[in-house]
Amino acid sequence: MRASIITTAFIAIEGAHAWGSLGHTTIGYIAENLIDKKGEAWARDILNATGNSSAGYLAGVATWADSYRSTAEGKFSAPYHFIDAEDDPPTTCDVDYERDCGAAGCVVSAIANYTQRVQQTQALSAQQVNYALRFLIHFIGDITQPLHDEALALGGNTIPVKFNNKTTNLHATWDTSIPEKFVGGYSLADAKEWAANLTMEIQKGKYKKQAKSWFTKDSTISDPVASAMIWARDGNAYVCSEVIPDGVPAVQGMELSGTYYADTIDTVEMQIAKGGYRLANWLDQLAAASKKVHSKNFVRAAAPEFDVDALLPAPRELSRAKLARQAVGWDCGHKH
Ligand SMILES: *[C@@H]1O[C@H](CO)[C@@H](O)[C@H](O)[C@H]1NC(C)=O
Ligand SMILES: *[C@@H]1O[C@H](CO)[C@@H](O)[C@H](O)[C@H]1NC(C)=O
Ligand SMILES: *[C@@H]1O[C@H](CO)[C@@H](O)[C@H](O)[C@H]1NC(C)=O
Ligand SMILES: *[C@@H]1O[C@H](CO)[C@@H](O)[C@H](O)[C@H]1NC(C)=O
Ligand SMILES: *[C@@H]1O[C@H](CO)[C@@H](O)[C@H](O)[C@H]1NC(C)=O
Ligand SMILES: [Zn+2]
Repeated sequence: MRASIITTAFIAIEGAHAWGSLGHTTIGYIAENLIDKKGEAWARDILNATGNSSAGYLAGVATWADSYRSTAEGKFSAPYHFIDAEDDPPTTCDVDYERDCGAAGCVVSAIANYTQRVQQTQALSAQQVNYALRFLIHFIGDITQPLHDEALALGGNTIPVKFNNKTTNLHATWDTSIPEKFVGGYSLADAKEWAANLTMEIQKGKYKKQAKSWFTKDSTISDPVASAMIWARDGNAYVCSEVIPDGVPAVQGMELSGTYYADTIDTVEMQIAKGGYRLANWLDQLAAASKKVHSKNFVRAAAPEFDVDALLPAPRELSRAKLARQAVGWDCGHKH
């Protein structure tokens, strides 16, 4: 009992910092709202979530990967939360898989790896398949946060800024401060309400038309690297246009809860909406590719041939940005 209270408290504190917990759980709830029947049944089966809990079967596990990476067992997955694009914002923004995905993997290779693994129900254990789905739920969220697609200053982690007079950094501002200021909290109930609003905008509001461009026929589980690269480039482009359009000096040490917040909140909302929309569509595709043999027992199709060892770019000398990331043990202030 005591142990479980401590565990819950620990996760709650991580959550308060940790897209932050509000961003990830909102993405989970949006996907729950948009997923099709088959997708829901498939996901509930893998996640062993048959009942109805207030946490939600996707939202409830959306921050698991952030807790897991701070365990000894899960440490290997820390580089999977981002791709360090070595571009030159605000002049040039772009992501190059060969250049930017590190030897230890990145969010793009991770989405590809876990898209494969979640389909390998014959070769992998139920727990490995379950972890694969939890990772996907999280990483399809992380990749929409512009600073998870940027190497500069370790994704903005080493750019000090102020928010509501408190010292923080640019990465955490995007992960947490901006979303929490908008919503006024970070509880599951807050996430559910935000998700309901964003779902409405996707279905019949301001995102109705553009949502189709968030997940096109080029987003396909048969080419997960190319699909995730489209999402990484989309997120990264906002580093130039919204995150630091006037360069680092314009934000360094500055109070960002005023004009900067007002200028960026629309983009933050849209990126969260994209995460939920893409996640629902991705899971629908995975479920459609699986075969249901009888009501309680799913046998998923054997995964297509996919050389996971060939997933990562060829080994090469570490760049300055990769050395800097390695020097902070992948994690640094990057708790989210
Ligand atoms: C699935 O959930 C049920 C009910 O909560 C639990 O008894 C069972 O141990 C779980 N199975 C796995 C594989 O986690
Ligand atoms: C969960 O609850 C909702 C609303 O009460 C209901 O529509 C849905 O069918 C329930 N799902 C499951 C799997 O029990
Ligand atoms: C794929 O995921 C497994 C399980 O988490 C991990 O052991 C393996 O290193 C990953 N492979 C790549 C290429 O990321
Ligand atoms: C920051 O603190 C100053 C001095 O206490 C105060 O005047 C100002 O309103 C505060 N700004 C914000 C955004 O909280
Ligand atoms: C959701 O929409 C309602 C109705 O427009 C609004 O009052 C509420 O503040 C919104 N909440 C969030 C978190 O967007
Ligand atoms: Zn993450």
